[in-house]
Amino acid sequence: MRRILVTSALPYANGHIHIGHLVEYIQTDIWVRFQKLRGNRCIYLCADDTHGTAIMIRANQEKRAETELIAEMAEAHQQDFAGFSIRFDHYGSTNSEANRSTCEQIWLALRKADMVVEREIEQLYDTEKGIFLADRMVRGNCPHCKSPDQPGDNCSNCGATYSPKELINAISTISGTTPESRCASHLFVQVEKLHDFLEEWTQSGTLPKESANYLKNYFLNKELKDWDISRPAPYFGFEIPDSPGNYWYVWFDAPIGYIAATLEWCELTGEKTDAWWRGDNAEIHHFIGKDIQYFHTLFWPAMLKVAGYSLPERIHIHGFLTVGGQKMAKSKGTFIRAATYLRHLNPEALRYYYASRLSSKIEDIDLNLEDFTTKVNSDLVGKVINLASRSAKFVADTGLSASYPDDGGLFAAGASEGEAIAAAYEAGDYSLAMRRILELADRANPYVEQNAPWELRKDPSKAAELQDVCSVALNLFRQLVIYLAPVLPDIAEKAGELFGEPLDSWEQAQQPLTGTKISKFKHMMQRIDPKNVQAMTEESKEEAALDTTSQDPQSRNYEDSAAPLKEEPLEEEINFEDFMKADLRIARVVEAKEVPESRKLLQLTLSLGGDERRNVFAGIKAAYDPVDLIGRLVVLAANLAPRKMKFGVSEGMVIASGGGGKEVFLLSPDEGALPGQRLH
Ligand code: MSP
Ligand code: ZN
Repeated sequence: MRRILVTSALPYANGHIHIGHLVEYIQTDIWVRFQKLRGNRCIYLCADDTHGTAIMIRANQEKRAETELIAEMAEAHQQDFAGFSIRFDHYGSTNSEANRSTCEQIWLALRKADMVVEREIEQLYDTEKGIFLADRMVRGNCPHCKSPDQPGDNCSNCGATYSPKELINAISTISGTTPESRCASHLFVQVEKLHDFLEEWTQSGTLPKESANYLKNYFLNKELKDWDISRPAPYFGFEIPDSPGNYWYVWFDAPIGYIAATLEWCELTGEKTDAWWRGDNAEIHHFIGKDIQYFHTLFWPAMLKVAGYSLPERIHIHGFLTVGGQKMAKSKGTFIRAATYLRHLNPEALRYYYASRLSSKIEDIDLNLEDFTTKVNSDLVGKVINLASRSAKFVADTGLSASYPDDGGLFAAGASEGEAIAAAYEAGDYSLAMRRILELADRANPYVEQNAPWELRKDPSKAAELQDVCSVALNLFRQLVIYLAPVLPDIAEKAGELFGEPLDSWEQAQQPLTGTKISKFKHMMQRIDPKNVQAMTEESKEEAALDTTSQDPQSRNYEDSAAPLKEEPLEEEINFEDFMKADLRIARVVEAKEVPESRKLLQLTLSLGGDERRNVFAGIKAAYDPVDLIGRLVVLAANLAPRKMKFGVSEGMVIASGGGGKEVFLLSPDEGALPGQRLH
């Protein structure tokens, strides 16, 4: 028996649970239920993530205490989760005494390891509201392309990354006033001190391959940046005991909430926290979305290591939800709250649909509402529940046959699939598990069709045959429901009632039931009526129009973005003609020099062959030494409109990838390419 501690990311207290969140909580709940069904000891812990500037500002706008706001949200979150049968062993809050004391303890360990330093930093300050502004709370014109109304960390138009202070005509999004630059002292954790440990740990098989590979680059000949861990007052959070007036940044105390939830659960059950978080008596599994990897794969293991806690066995990372192939959008009614869904549709339908789409890869998953309707109706109602609804009533009086009839090997075949299905669940490859289970259903249904119990019952001399056929159909149904039980707990419970014995162990799928009574068949799931789907999206549109507080589905709730792992969605599709409008040319760097007044720019003279020269300013100073560039080939966007800059006119743009700063990578053409040649 394994001992497994499982967590989902702690949902922010400043918004309601929506169907995007549910990808994660349903996925985790399925895994936990699967482990329990297999006989493992498994506990599922979570909590509300309650601290930070966003909560403080919202409470302020609503003229009430933060504690009142977060209590209300905690209640709403837990109600939504319960509505989807997401069952936690304990649900806590990061604003708890258990969390405060664990934060203090980990903090002391960091101090003791000499990993905390203090530095002054300059930040924009809202003089009207009296608070320092996080990157996303400032908007202004992009310092590069001048595009208006851009956020403080990167430009949605040209993709440039910058600090909020560089924005032109910056305004505070909270008060609309012009912020001023102020200095404050912050505490930083020197993660670099654990460079070797983290490099090894991130490559140790704990993370999905995609993440591990990505992180590899991160460590190669590079230092990990210090992590800014404190915020000056006013801030809603925990004050740092040895640094009065400073508070732990919300992302410090949030993951510690995992341990605090365990502490609280242990208090309630008499268990010992150390038996789960220290030594190797238990496995720890975190489920998170791809947007918060950075915090869980670098900072969190660093904190655990320093404080002597166990490191996670596995971090399960999932992609984002799209609806109809697009990001959830309030205007389209696809930004659907959990509570709104529950007013119109059956929660098990969504659990099944997500399961049928989830793999162990970090891919985005799509909810196509038409496909959802068809799939649930044809798979669950048509192929699984039908097996019972068409046979249970005919054995209500007689019960199941005393010995299991000859079914041509169907039950045995299903039993032998058990381990393969279990392996798929274990790996998080639920779509594979669903496919294998539905293949079994596809074999069971022809058996019922061919033996037609509804015909047999018309002929009293065939009573024994009728009982046998129904016994087979019901046993095949029961086997399928055991395999589906992690996904469909409600149907599993109703099936348990039908058979007079709960379905609570994977092993039950190995042995058919015989000679037992069958209860009266009750409806287990209605077909989805597309009208209800429509009503749900309509209601979501209306809610979105009224709602000014809940999250913006496009930009998540960060105070500061986790830039290093930021996703860049693809641009809209274009045709070949559109593509050819961009005239990309091979160019040779014939001269390169620093622009002394600029932190970012190098001035390049590029040759396009013959006498054609271009003067280009490129933001690559942090990444390239001018002398290394002279003579090399690059790719130039040659027909861009010239841009007047402080230091001169830039006649085109050198093509590079990366997010800016040191993370910039120029493209090099293969041997043989000549300056002036066009890319096509
Ligand atoms: N509070 C942080 C997590 C702290 S963990 C110590 C947070 N909260 S959140 O409410 O924004 O998100 C909670 C989880 O839901 C995250 O893992 C996030 O990736 C996931 N999702 C939020 N929106 C999502 C989609 N649209 N699609 C899939 N998952 C999404 O992040
Ligand atoms: Zn821009």
